[in-house]
Amino acid sequence: MTAESTAQQSGFGLGDESSVWFNLTPLLKDPDNPMRLLMQMAERYGPVIPVNMANQRIVLVTEPELFKHVLVTKVDNYVKYFDGLKPIFGKSMITHDGALWQKIRMPQQPAFHPDAFAEYIPYFIEAIKSKMAHWAEFARTGETFEMVEQTWTLAADMICKALFDRDMPFNPHFVFKCVKTYTDVSNHKDIRLKRQADALFEVGDEDTAKAVEAWWSVPPALFAADPREEREKTLLKMIQNAMADPSIPEFDEQQAIDEIKQYLWAGTETTALTFAWALYLTSKNPEAAERIRREGETVYGDREPTAADYSALQYTRAVIQETMRLYPPVWSLIRVATEPDVIGGKEIKPGDRIVLFSYGAHHNPRFWKDPEEFIPERWMDKTQKQVKYSYVPFGAGKRSCIGGAMSQVENTLALSILLRRFRPEYVGLEPPGLNATVTLTPRGGLLFRVQELS
Ligand code: HEM
Repeated sequence: MTAESTAQQSGFGLGDESSVWFNLTPLLKDPDNPMRLLMQMAERYGPVIPVNMANQRIVLVTEPELFKHVLVTKVDNYVKYFDGLKPIFGKSMITHDGALWQKIRMPQQPAFHPDAFAEYIPYFIEAIKSKMAHWAEFARTGETFEMVEQTWTLAADMICKALFDRDMPFNPHFVFKCVKTYTDVSNHKDIRLKRQADALFEVGDEDTAKAVEAWWSVPPALFAADPREEREKTLLKMIQNAMADPSIPEFDEQQAIDEIKQYLWAGTETTALTFAWALYLTSKNPEAAERIRREGETVYGDREPTAADYSALQYTRAVIQETMRLYPPVWSLIRVATEPDVIGGKEIKPGDRIVLFSYGAHHNPRFWKDPEEFIPERWMDKTQKQVKYSYVPFGAGKRSCIGGAMSQVENTLALSILLRRFRPEYVGLEPPGLNATVTLTPRGGLLFRVQELS
């Protein structure tokens, strides 16, 4: 496929005038914290705020009980919203609703059952060790580096090794950069403006075309790569079996390709952001980093951690949970209403875009004591009752994240193992700026250097 034809296809897949992302942009401009204005609006106008735009309504919802209404109680009346992200996800399960979604998800579900994690752990550790070799080099030279790129390549490696039985058959740094160009939805705005000016195929789209092309080259490379060990129970095998299953004709070759794309975005970007923010928080709270080191020493000492050890790494896991509370990678969950409804006393019309503001719930003092403080211990105190749906980093209900539990294993082990050998030091701007794109990303990345502990 040529860059031009890729641009053409991706261009047409990008957001329209009515895109939620563009419509929200004016509300997300605060350079220190783009979430601040939405938080203030929630405080001032209450838990359901309809915002009338020229051609549609966006309804900002901030109350956990109302998250439940949309995600659980009336889940079938609120469908998924993808807009300009279609070229990233294609027709993968994350984009579907109803019976088709169920048909696509079912054959892949066993790969994410907690019983499977023990088999994945050695592969996660292999990927972590390979990352350690890079960090040892950074420590030796003293150079600074961008942490999200490091954690993205780690997350991608873990998925390829554990779920697909492959070594990464692509240059992860190149793919990371390309995908970033595309998934930063603020870039879409420039692209859209160019399209409006009838200049779609000029400069601006070149980067996007390259990004999409690089992204689309990943699944074929993965299918063509040699298996590492010919393991039987891998996600890739499940996808291939589904493709061969005549009872699911919808699971065709394109479906398989798009599932791979979905995992390499939904399963890497989010996991990588969480891990990078966890390293930032532990760099700023050295006593937490020390406690993680001590816990690792006590739980698994000089051997490699196992699934049982993961369960025992309570404090380290609490650090990951607290990181996702403070910096939820998916800062809002978006749906489109298909039926008339009433939410929190406000009328909902079909076509309304519903923005469930997860970040707002995670930072609300009504649900969290000292919500802006980093307090991992709050996850270990069983006497503290959590308000239901006030913590939704993985969404909720039947459409919640398929890989959420697995990502906690990945990040807990990575944090424990890497901190035992290294002292990462955040050397970027303080506080780091935030960018609210589809995910909540550090503005310009997180700059670090590492020291090797003796
Ligand atoms: C910290 C890590 C992660 C976070 C914060 C996260 C967050 C989320 C959220 C919020 C959703 C639901 C979106 C919605 O309701 O609109 C979701 C869905 C999904 N996630 Fe994750 N995710 C993470 C890791 C992973 C991993 C490791 C994988 C797989 C390897 C994965 C695969 C998926 C898939 C396939 C869906 C769609 C499920 C469906 O529609 O049935 N995620 N994720």
